[in-house]
Amino acid sequence: MILVGPSSSGKSTWAAENFASSEIVSSDELRSRVGIDESDQSAGTVAFELLETIVAERLRRQLTTVIDTTGLDRERRLSWIGAADTASIPVFAAVFDTDLDTCLAWNDAREDRRPRGVVRNQHRRMKHANAEIEDESYTGVLRDAVVNPTAPSVVTSKPSQPVSEAREGHTFGLIVSRFDWGDAPFPETLRSIAARAEEAGFRDIWLMDHFRQIRSVGRPWEDIPEPYTTLGHLAGVTSTIRLGCLVTAVTHRHPAVLAQMIATLDVLSGGRAVCGLGIGWDEEEHKNFGIPFPDVATRYELLEESVDILRLMWGKGTPEFRGEHYQADSLACYPRPVQDPVPILIGGSGEKKTLRLVAKLADAANLFGTPERVAHKVGVLREHCEAVERDIEEIEVTHLVNAITAPDRAGLRAQVDRVRPSSVSFEEFVNKNHGAQPADLIGLFAAYHESGADHSIVSLPNAHIEGGIEAFAEVISGMR
Ligand code: GTP
Ligand code: MG
Repeated sequence: MILVGPSSSGKSTWAAENFASSEIVSSDELRSRVGIDESDQSAGTVAFELLETIVAERLRRQLTTVIDTTGLDRERRLSWIGAADTASIPVFAAVFDTDLDTCLAWNDAREDRRPRGVVRNQHRRMKHANAEIEDESYTGVLRDAVVNPTAPSVVTSKPSQPVSEAREGHTFGLIVSRFDWGDAPFPETLRSIAARAEEAGFRDIWLMDHFRQIRSVGRPWEDIPEPYTTLGHLAGVTSTIRLGCLVTAVTHRHPAVLAQMIATLDVLSGGRAVCGLGIGWDEEEHKNFGIPFPDVATRYELLEESVDILRLMWGKGTPEFRGEHYQADSLACYPRPVQDPVPILIGGSGEKKTLRLVAKLADAANLFGTPERVAHKVGVLREHCEAVERDIEEIEVTHLVNAITAPDRAGLRAQVDRVRPSSVSFEEFVNKNHGAQPADLIGLFAAYHESGADHSIVSLPNAHIEGGIEAFAEVISGMR
């Protein structure tokens, strides 16, 4: 909601009557926060920077936002309209076309009155704004705002209807990437995480495919169990949650061996295996273990041939395979997997090759980054799908993101304080890891859903702590 009107035309009064104070972002109020009072013009630049930051963040979270400025600057209006469009929320202008004499009279009666010249000048600019607004793309323009003190309910009610419809079917996975849980031996805690994740409604649990902890997650000497062995174990201690690697490096195992492993996992788990695949990236790790690490073009070829071999292994008969990198006389897989087909997810956001291979070969993609970035990548994937005449709806779009939540502020602080390194402040940690209460996280995941993602795979830094997974259950049920 963008308020447009000269000073003393009644904007703030109307906003206060129709919206909660937390929904109103006012340049005057911010001016008083950084300056002496609401009329401290020297604080104007900073106040507007703050306003823009707050508005952008609220829109990203799809929160109702009333922008209380004079609204006379066209460029600002256009940028807010654009931001609301990006966040897929409706945008209204409320026009305060109060006549000059009334504005002047109301101004005179104010304690914090503005110079009359300012009111006059803004009133003149209002004529231009009135004309400009006709050409701007609002969901609706409220022309009679000032004479009609109650805003229509379409404006004041949250956009819950379209968003909840769009959210339908959004699901979650949990990735466990770090096993450094203090003195507790990891197997026990891992079993508990898997059971609690299942209980909380996570659809799948994922492990990374690394043989030494990666630097972005922990220290290289921390325990990191071999993922497929571990998933086999988790298959035995869970009953509904799906199991996979995010993602298996094609360089790590011969594809026929991998096909066997995943088929066995699928059988042991009663059809809960997911095959995550990628070209691998960790050259140092390959060198450390003496595992060949061909160049990137070759690794893409390995990925493509691997998918072919996996499908042949899981399919009918005992076919041969003659590829550039792999040759096999008789591919077969007993036991046969329960699922037909076992879903294959290809991880990575590379626009030219990875997403092209997703469109050509995969059942699912895995992206990362902000909702805007995910939306962009989904657009690229759509183009690749059109090129190979594949329906993008057949491909599940998953994305990877960190999150940490608790039912209230105090709880969130307590959870964060237990897992953040002492060198990282609470605020920094919360910003980096999307720390928020469930309702705010639902806003974030709704934005991901709008961007085209169907499934969010979250890393919860507090998964091993009591309440860490349980609190996230509210986000999962809120997105159902
Ligand atoms: P700026 O913040 O300076 O841009 O003005 P504004 O458009 O936000 O005006 P605001 O809502 O602060 O109203 C200015 C003065 O007019 C206040 O003292 C209000 O109490 C008074 N006022 C606002 N609406 C009405 C109204 O409908 N009737 C009467 N009598 N006074 C009003
Ligand atoms: Mg005001």
